[in-house]
Formats: sequence, structure tokens, C-alpha cells
Amino acid sequence: MTAPLPRVAVLASGRGSNLAALLDVRARGELPVDFALVGSDKATAGALRLAEAAGIPTLALDPRSYPDRRAFDLDLFARITASGAEWLVLAGFMRILDGEALAPWVGRMINIHPSLLPKYRGLHTHRRALEAGDREHGASVHFVTAELDGGPVIAQARLAIEAGDDEHQLAQRLLPLEHQLLPAVLRLLTSQRLQWNDHAAQFDGQPLLAPLDLGDHSLLSAE
Ligand code: GRF
Repeated sequence: MTAPLPRVAVLASGRGSNLAALLDVRARGELPVDFALVGSDKATAGALRLAEAAGIPTLALDPRSYPDRRAFDLDLFARITASGAEWLVLAGFMRILDGEALAPWVGRMINIHPSLLPKYRGLHTHRRALEAGDREHGASVHFVTAELDGGPVIAQARLAIEAGDDEHQLAQRLLPLEHQLLPAVLRLLTSQRLQWNDHAAQFDGQPLLAPLDLGDHSLLSAE
């Protein structure tokens, strides 16, 4: 009997291109997981339509129907747990999560953020990189903790900022790298090469002292 595939839930607020990338890589047979649920705080999110088309159960919860953030988050996480998901990916989920509600998921939840963390937590990362005169920009995937965009960084993709780049161009050039980075990290997580140990990331049994780079063989190989 073959072992059941790891079950993954994805949360997204927007168009869902990172979700689409996960679905594509899975369809190619390079991400052996089952998507148990795609959830959103926006009923109109493109990500929900993508999930429906792929036959994945969806969930849209409206934060305005809850008394406060914690109540929303507790209900959201309860439903994710009920879906059978063991792992959780934030793929453009544009909400700050309550620390108590997310606590049971620490070590099993990753987020993709469009900056080279610890630079530029929060919003408008491309603009801020340009305004700072940075020569380099990128995206990070990190473990989610109660600190916004502050959990241990697992892996990064880097790109050079070119003269004349604007915010939009930079975002456009970064996106395809995000689409490689997120599935690669999810594969490491669900295969348990990547683990959460004593509040830190561990890779192949060793503490992860610096983020992996998208160019690393170990990150992109399917093994
Ligand atoms: C991505 O840029 C991601 O890094 C950020 O939100 C955006 C989501 O885009 N967290 P999409 O909905 O996956 O297309």
C-alpha cells in the first residue's frame, strides 16, 4: 500500500498566480501532495476560481462577519484543520494573523513575501526597494510565526534591479521567480527535508544558518 500524500491547504486573497504555480508543478508530477483546501478572505479572489477549476474544495470567509480578528482566524484555522490539511501555504494572503490562533501551525505554515527579508516586511516592497536605491531585490519564503513577515527565512530568489525599473516592472520580473521558489520550498517541507526544530529551520538534519538560494541544486531538485 502506498503512503497517503501530504495534505496541504493554501490561503490566498488575490489572483492566485502562486497557487497556479503550485498546481502546475503538482500536475507535472513534481510536487507529490494533495491540496485539501484553498481558502480566502475574499469571495471574488481569482485563487478560488483556480481551485474550483482544479476540483479542490474552497472556502471563502468574510472577516466582516466576525467580531474581531482572533474570532475570524480561529474559525479559519478550525476549518483548515477539519479539511485534514497538515501543511499550510500563505500564497498572497493579505491579512495579519492572530498569534494565538496561528500557534498550532507554527512549523507547518509557510508564506511567500516579495522582498529579501529581513528587508521590507509588510507592503509596497518593490517601491521601497527602488526608493532605497537597492541594486538587488527578490522574494523570500519563510516559516510563519506571530511576528509579521518575521519568521525564519527558508529560501530566497534574487534578481538585479536594472536602471529605469519601475515598481510594476520589478514585480513582473520577480513573479516567475516566486513561482519557482514556492513549490520548491513546499516540496522540501512536505518531504520533511525541511523541519521546524526549537524555533528554527532545520534542513537535512542541520540548522539552516542562511536562507537557501533558488539557484541551489538542493532546492530545485525533486529529490
Ligand atoms: C505575491 O507577490 C506574493 O509574493 C505576495 O502576494 C502576491 C500574490 O500574488 N505575498 P498571486 O495572488 O499569487 O498572483
